[in-house]
Amino acid sequence: MARPIYFTNKIKDFNKRIFVDGDKSLSIRWALMASLALGKSRAYNLLKSEDVLSAIKSLKKLGVKIKSNRKYHEINGNGLNSYIYKKNLTINAGNSGTLGRLILALLIHSPKKIKLIGDKSLSKRDFSRVIKPLRKFGANFYPNNKTTLPISIKCKNFIRPINYFENRGSAQCKSSVLLAALNAPGKTFIKAKKSRDHTEILFKNLKIPIKVKKTKNYDYIEVEGKKNFKAFNYNIPGDISSSAFFIVLTLLSNNSNLTIQNVNVNPSRTGVITILNKMGAKIIFKNKKIYKGEQIADICVKSIKKLNSINCPAKLNSSAIDEFLIIFLVAAKARGTSYFKNLEELNLKESKRLNWGSKILNKIGVKTKLTNHSIKIKGNPKLNLYKTYEIKNYLKDHRVMAMSTIAALTLGGRWKINDPDSIKTSFPSFLKIIKSLGGKIN
Ligand code: S3P
Repeated sequence: MARPIYFTNKIKDFNKRIFVDGDKSLSIRWALMASLALGKSRAYNLLKSEDVLSAIKSLKKLGVKIKSNRKYHEINGNGLNSYIYKKNLTINAGNSGTLGRLILALLIHSPKKIKLIGDKSLSKRDFSRVIKPLRKFGANFYPNNKTTLPISIKCKNFIRPINYFENRGSAQCKSSVLLAALNAPGKTFIKAKKSRDHTEILFKNLKIPIKVKKTKNYDYIEVEGKKNFKAFNYNIPGDISSSAFFIVLTLLSNNSNLTIQNVNVNPSRTGVITILNKMGAKIIFKNKKIYKGEQIADICVKSIKKLNSINCPAKLNSSAIDEFLIIFLVAAKARGTSYFKNLEELNLKESKRLNWGSKILNKIGVKTKLTNHSIKIKGNPKLNLYKTYEIKNYLKDHRVMAMSTIAALTLGGRWKINDPDSIKTSFPSFLKIIKSLGGKIN
């Protein structure tokens, strides 16, 4: 276990350009899809975090050949239905809900029982949301009525396509069904509440037969299965969820400027920018381009003295789902009371993030009103900290760790952060970048 780290000083003014680590959603999707493609696929700038490493290890256990060097990762795929299913196989998804939920979809036709396990946090999370549709495809789960990991999967039936209604706005559920559909003969139909659409974009790019009709509230998707696709290279752009911590670090610091280069700014991920700009930030995108159907840009942000509260429209929730903890910190420093609602999904993440957000704000003297799906935050533009604060027992949630670090560097006080290694699940360079901007870590 890594030793705690301490922060005792606010960060000084900075004016810098940085890169953040590669996008986690795209890195995991690249690995899973490359393992099903025909031939050798390479990823450059793949996120080298524990979640992605768990994906690589899991695929290797399924007989997929993977090699890596300093420049790239290479996966040698043998097409659909090409995994080698050994007896008594256990796959470990570690901390990653995305990996756990997506890889189950790739195992629906396994003739042998495969056990899926995860760490303490993942073992608390609900898997019924993917078990239900995957059962409809023809997979069996053991024990029959279990909804959390560990759980085993095996196919006893023919795989058939399904009709599925995704009504949470969960990209993990939608993507799990999309991946399962690759192995089902015929057409799978999905009606999905809006959520990140990287899987659909990737399918289109790989010429997998997919049709997407977007309406105001729902996307209607049709995929045809059993179509092999060719290997593909991918240059993974930066992760906007990792960028969000540095955007807020800059916003809440004095006289600072930051450019985060080459970030994936897919509109289904940019809720954090919309919300912060509504609160008075002036975040802009420069050097916009399209890469393999994804929007990429440099994100430019500067410190802002006056930030306003927000009554956050629930329609922005899914496009900012991983950023709410850090948005709550901005609300704590804004003028007025902010309100965020319909966020029950937030308590189903790596930790109960809605509760944790409230708990941390209360710890630093900010008043909140919490329900099981909403939070009101009474902001204080003069918020300045002088006491000692300790973050512990947070189920090693990487985003709780990062939010606490940004609070320490912008609001002051003396902070002890236990299990700092937790950030390695999504953003291994986090503390290195903090240091490069002048943050002092003890
Ligand atoms: C992800 C989807 C989101 C997000 C997670 C990554 C993905 O989860 O919280 O970090 O890559 O599909 P839900 O889709 O379950 O909300």
